[in-house]
Amino acid sequence: MKIAVLGTGAVGRAHAARLDELGHQVTVGTRDPGATLARTGADTMGNAPFAAWLAEHPGIRLARFADAAEDAELLINATAGHTSLAALKAAGSGNLAGKTLIDAATPNDFTTPVPVPMPSPWGTPAPILDPVNTDSLAEQIQRAHPEAKVVKTLNTLAAHLMTAPATLGDGDHTVFLSSDHHDAKQQAGALLAAYGWRDIIDLGDLTTARGTEMIQPLYLALTRALGHEHFNIKIIR
Ligand SMILES: NC(=O)c1ccc[n+]([C@@H]2O[C@H](COP(=O)([O-])OP(=O)(O)OC[C@H]3O[C@@H](n4cnc5c(N)ncnc54)[C@H](OP(=O)(O)O)[C@@H]3O)[C@@H](O)[C@H]2O)c1
Repeated sequence: MKIAVLGTGAVGRAHAARLDELGHQVTVGTRDPGATLARTGADTMGNAPFAAWLAEHPGIRLARFADAAEDAELLINATAGHTSLAALKAAGSGNLAGKTLIDAATPNDFTTPVPVPMPSPWGTPAPILDPVNTDSLAEQIQRAHPEAKVVKTLNTLAAHLMTAPATLGDGDHTVFLSSDHHDAKQQAGALLAAYGWRDIIDLGDLTTARGTEMIQPLYLALTRALGHEHFNIKIIR
C-alpha cells in the first residue's frame, strides 16, 4: 500500500521504517525536503540528522507534505501537535479526502506560560495541552478536513514502542483507537495488528481522543520518574 508518513521526527521515522519493512511504499512528508536534508547534527530530541537516517532506508522517499499525501492511500500524522493543522493544510484537504488519517500527535503547547508549571523530563517546564478537555487535536483535524477519516491512536506511548510493541513485556500492553469512521478504524486496527499489537481497545467516537490526548501529563511524569520511555499502560479488566 502507498502510505504517507507526515513528519520527520522520531515518530515519523519509526512508522516509516516499520512500514517499509512490512513491504509498503512509504513517502515521508516534510515542509521543505531540501532544508530537511541539509540539517546537520542531532535535533533537540537527540535524533540523528534526517539525511543520515534516510540513507539507511533507501526504499523510503522524502517529499513535501502535499506531494507525499497526493498518491497515498493511507496517511499518518506524526507532526508536532501545535503545528499539525498547518502541516495538514499544507498536505491539502483534497489529498486527504476519503482516506484514513492516523493521528499520533499530541497537542503540546510549549509557548503559553503557566503559573505553576510541571517539570518535564528534560528539565524545562512541561508543555500544556491545547486543545484540552472540551476538544482534541484529533477533532480539530477532523473538522478542518471533513472528508478525511481521522483515527486517533498510538499517541499514548513512545515512538519506538508504537511500531514494535513486542519489545516491551512480550507485547502484553494496551493501545487505543478513537474515530467516527468504522472502516477507517478497521484499517488502523489492521495496521496496529501488523505492528504486533494484540490488546487494542476501541474507545468509540473521536471525542474519546480527548482522553488519550490527556494522558500526556501522566506520560511526562512517568518518563521523569522512571528516567526512560520504555513503558506503557496495560488495561487489566
Ligand atoms: N516522540 C515520541 O516518542 C512521541 C510519543 C507520542 C506522541 N508523540 C507525538 O507525535 C508527534 C511527532 O513527534 P516527534 O517527536 O516525532 O516529532 P516532532 O519534533 O514533535 O515533530 C516533527 C515534525 O513536525 C513538523 N513541524 C514542526 N514545525 C512545523 C510547522 N511550523 N509547520 C508544519 N510542520 C511542522 C516538522 O516538519 P519538518 O519535517 O519540515 O521539520 C516535523 O516533520 C508529536 O505530535 C508528538 O507530540 C511523540
